[in-house]
Amino acid sequence: MKYYLPKNFMLGASAAAWQTEGWTGKKPGQDSLLDAAYKYSPERWHEGYGPAVATDFYNRYKEDCALMKALGIKAYRTSIDWSRFIQNYETGEVNEEAAQFYSKVVDELIKNGVEPIICLEHWELPNYLYEKYGGWNSKQVVECYVKYAAAAFKLLGDRVRYWFTFNEPIVFPLLGIMEGVWYPYKADTREAMQWNYHKVLATAKAVKLYHEQDYGYKQGGKIGIILNSAVVYPRSQSADDLQAAKMCDLFENRIYADPCINGEFPAEYFALLEQHGCMIDVEAAELAIIKANPVDVLGFNYYTPKRVKARTAAWNPAVKFNPRYYYDDYELQGRKMNPSRGWEIYAKGLYDYAMVLKNEYNNIPWIVTENGMGVAEENRYKDTAGVIQDDYRINYVADHLRWLWKAVEEGSNCFGHLMWNFTDNVSPYNAFKNRYGYVEIELENNRNRRIKKSGYWFQKMVSDGCFDF
Ligand code: BG6
Repeated sequence: MKYYLPKNFMLGASAAAWQTEGWTGKKPGQDSLLDAAYKYSPERWHEGYGPAVATDFYNRYKEDCALMKALGIKAYRTSIDWSRFIQNYETGEVNEEAAQFYSKVVDELIKNGVEPIICLEHWELPNYLYEKYGGWNSKQVVECYVKYAAAAFKLLGDRVRYWFTFNEPIVFPLLGIMEGVWYPYKADTREAMQWNYHKVLATAKAVKLYHEQDYGYKQGGKIGIILNSAVVYPRSQSADDLQAAKMCDLFENRIYADPCINGEFPAEYFALLEQHGCMIDVEAAELAIIKANPVDVLGFNYYTPKRVKARTAAWNPAVKFNPRYYYDDYELQGRKMNPSRGWEIYAKGLYDYAMVLKNEYNNIPWIVTENGMGVAEENRYKDTAGVIQDDYRINYVADHLRWLWKAVEEGSNCFGHLMWNFTDNVSPYNAFKNRYGYVEIELENNRNRRIKKSGYWFQKMVSDGCFDF
């Protein structure tokens, strides 16, 4: 069957500064949290690869922009590396060399017909701010972030029309602060919730600034946040499983989506934190700022749904509270899986969340900011000419696009799909293990870029305005 591209629908790809740029031009003391994580334990990163070189985008961005044009990519989302861009994290003074780099990247994208989409933090919190203030645990860092955002708007606001405050803001607090599996390896639920809250507050302050600030030209664009909201399905319709799904939705979705889009935290959230002895520092004046400054757009990263059930074993009260007290995953049997990542593939999840946004979030304009399939050892799929035959990725994207476009037909306000990602790149700890790109990075061949079969498929889809599936 043929599926036609909806009108004014943006097709493109995503990446992040720290996952592509490499450390060229970075000065001592300019580490991001992820740079620090890599320096702290490089052996934990798959085959020792990390942000140090990444895809060498810093030196090769012109080549990459030309390749985007050749593939028909119409929008490219990346981030600014806060730790590189700002010279003095407390005053917001800009590092001129870095400013020139980001300005040139934006110009190069536009020159190649690619809409630049900029995210202000894809986990590039300066490690200095973590060490000095405790990172997002501190209100001081919110203020540093606002100064950074102002500098970024001032530099690029005349050319960038889509801004995002954070990428997947919940991930670092969850994995680094609450569960202790990522640097800085903490296990403190209260602190993790404080990080989450301050990122919501920082978002509202950046939104306000973006809407109000006058830099001598009109900003005229839109600003939002990128969430990897959990698309939750209960195992059964039993009251306990339904309640488990509700709690997962609360802690992995609504603690960001509700305040950022609708202006208010879910009523039960603070009461639950209080009940479990981990209430955070919240001020009435801050809640007023959050209420008054909802985002214009939402970015949604979707890879896999969350299937949950009620917990069977009782929580041990001697152990610190963790929201997972309320819900648990269950063994997935008979579902379509991506074996490299251990994630279920469920394209309809995208449609289902589109309907949630339509019905519960005022049909906010939104864009898929990540979606894709990470596959290990893709070399085994190379044909004799050396082109990776990634039919699995083509099927993955096609299936997700058709569900997404069905949602658009039914009134969802989705205006685009950005594939994760354009070229393969470095992920936290997994590094280059799971490859996601339309374009391969040949690590063993000077990081040569080579278009995969999916890249050619994408190119054809863009020029035909449709695909068969
Ligand atoms: C997303 C992140 O959640 O997952 C990306 O926003 C990350 O930064 C991607 O690279 C894939 O991660 P992984 O671990 O499967 O390589």
